[in-house]
Amino acid sequence: MKKMNVNKYQKYQIMDFKNRTWPNKTITKAPIWCSVDLRDGNQALSIPMNLDEKMMMFEFLVSMGFKEIELGFPSASEVEFQFVRRLIEEKKIPKDVTVQVLTQARRHLLERTFESLEGVDNAIVHLYNSTSTAQREIVFNKSKKEIMDIAIEGTKIVKELKEKAKNPNIRLQYSPESFTGTEIDYALEVCHAVMDIWSPDKKNKIIFNLPATVEMSTPNVYADRIEWFSNNVKNRDCVIISVHAHNDRGTAVAAAELAVMAGAQKVEGALFGNGERCGNMDIITMALNLFSQGIDPELDFTDINKIREIYTKTTRMEVPPRHPYAGELVYTAFSGSHQDAINKGMKCYAKSKDKIWNVPYLPIDPKDVGRTYESIIRINSQSGKGGVAYIMENDFGILIPKWMQPDFGKLIQNVTDKTAKELSSLEINDVFKQSYLDTSGWAYKLKKCHIDADSIEVDVKQSKEDKAKQVKTNCIIDFKGKEISFNEYGNGPVDAFVKGLIRATGTRFVLENYSEHAVAKGADSKAIAYISIKTSAGKNIFGAGIDENITVASMKAVLSAFNRI
Ligand code: KIV
Ligand code: ZN
Repeated sequence: MKKMNVNKYQKYQIMDFKNRTWPNKTITKAPIWCSVDLRDGNQALSIPMNLDEKMMMFEFLVSMGFKEIELGFPSASEVEFQFVRRLIEEKKIPKDVTVQVLTQARRHLLERTFESLEGVDNAIVHLYNSTSTAQREIVFNKSKKEIMDIAIEGTKIVKELKEKAKNPNIRLQYSPESFTGTEIDYALEVCHAVMDIWSPDKKNKIIFNLPATVEMSTPNVYADRIEWFSNNVKNRDCVIISVHAHNDRGTAVAAAELAVMAGAQKVEGALFGNGERCGNMDIITMALNLFSQGIDPELDFTDINKIREIYTKTTRMEVPPRHPYAGELVYTAFSGSHQDAINKGMKCYAKSKDKIWNVPYLPIDPKDVGRTYESIIRINSQSGKGGVAYIMENDFGILIPKWMQPDFGKLIQNVTDKTAKELSSLEINDVFKQSYLDTSGWAYKLKKCHIDADSIEVDVKQSKEDKAKQVKTNCIIDFKGKEISFNEYGNGPVDAFVKGLIRATGTRFVLENYSEHAVAKGADSKAIAYISIKTSAGKNIFGAGIDENITVASMKAVLSAFNRI
C-alpha cells in the first residue's frame, strides 16, 4: 500500500458554537425551493443548453411547481440575455413565479442585468462577490474592507437601477460567495453593510444566500454557521436566509437539511444535483426525503421518469442507476431476503386499513413517483424463492403455493448460476412452463379422460359407515406411442386418477399436496393445479397443469410430477 500525502491538507476551522439548537429541531414544512438548473447547473455542462433546451427546462420546472427559478447570468452571455428576454416578451413566466438572475457587482453588468429584466413581473437580482480568505488573498489580493466595498457599491447600484425601473417587485439576494471559507463574523459584517444600504422591511425582505460554494466540512458544521448567522443577523424578520450547498464531500443534501433545521428558509439546488464539480444540492432527493416523512414537498414528482427524461435531454447528463428515488435500480431488490420482505410488506399494505406505507426496504411507494411494482423485484443468482413467486404472481397471475416455491426457486437458481445473468419475468415464466407444463418431452401424456359426472355410491366392502361417494374416471394415457387405459374409482377425480395411474404403470407414489386456482378471468378463463407427490424412495416431486377444465388441469399436474420422477 502506498502512503498518501496527508500532510498536504489542513483541518477546516470549526467555529466555537455551543448554543446550537438545530439538533433538537425537525423539518415540518418544505422550504422555498429555488432551482438553479438553468444557471449553476447549466454553467457546469460541457455543452451548455441552447435557447430551446433552456426553454424546455424552464417550462418543465414551472410544471413541477417551482416558484423561484434562477435563469442565468444575463449580463455574461448573449444566449442568457436572449433567454430572459424571450421569457418576458413571450409572457412565459407565470404570475406566481419569480425569476432570479445572477450578477457580479459591476455597474455595466448590473445595467445589462436590469436591461434583461425590463417588463418582468417578479424578479430577484442575485448579487454576489467572493468573501473568503483564500479568494481575498490569492485571487483578488484585496483587504477585507476592499471586498466589503464591492458588495456595498454593488448594492447601491442595484438600488439605483431598481428605482429607475420603477418595479417594486424586484428583490435583492446577496451572496457572500465562498461563505464556507469566510470568517463567519466577517460574512455577517458584509451582509449587514449590504442591508444598511438596501433597508429591507418585513414586507420587502432581503435574501442572504449563504453558499457552501465548496463543501468543506461535515453538514453539522454548516448548520452551526447557519444558526449562528440566523441568531446574529440584525432585523431577522426582514431577512430570508437561503442556503446553496455544493456536494464536494457528497453531503450537500444533508447539509441543506440540517441548515433548514438551523433556520434557513430558502434552499437552492438542482435536479439530480447537477452543478459545478460534484454538483449542487439535489432538490429531488431533499424534497422526496420530506415526502417520505409525510411532509408535502410542494413540488410534483408524480412522474419521476419524465423528470429524468427532460433532465437527460437538456443537460446530456446521465442519471446513475442508484440515484435516490429516481435511479433505474432503486425500486429493485435482487437479494432473496429483501424480495421476500418486500413481497410480504406489499401484501400487508394492500390489506391495511390506514394505508400507511411500511414496506421493508422501500422508503416510499414507487407508485407515488410513477414507478411500477413490476420493476421492484428482479431475479439473479442472489434472489430467493419469494422474489420468483412474486414475479409469477404479479406478472402472470400464477400463485405458486408455498410448499412448491422452493422447488421452482431451485430451478431458477440453476439457470441463473449457469448464465450468471439477470432473468426477465418472461424468462422466469418460460422456466416454469418448460419445467412443469410443457408436455413435449413427457413419456406419459394424457390422451383421453372421462369423469363420471354423477358421483356414484360405491360399496367399498367395509362397514356401512365407510361407504363413500366415489367418482369414476376412464382415462387413456399415451406412453411413448403406446396406449395405457384404466378405469378407476376414487373419492375425487384426482384420487381416482392417481390410483389408476399407479395400477396401470406399477409405479407407486402418494399424493402429498394439492392446490388450484383460476388463472385469468372472462372468456380466456383457465385453471391451474399444483401437485406434489412422494415416490416410494421418499423423494418429493412437483408438477403443475393448466387447462380450461380444472379436473383436467389436476390430472395434467399429476402427470407433470409423474413424468419428473
Ligand atoms: O456556489 C456558489 O457560491 C454560487 C454563488 C454564485 C451563489 O453559485
Ligand atoms: Zn453554486
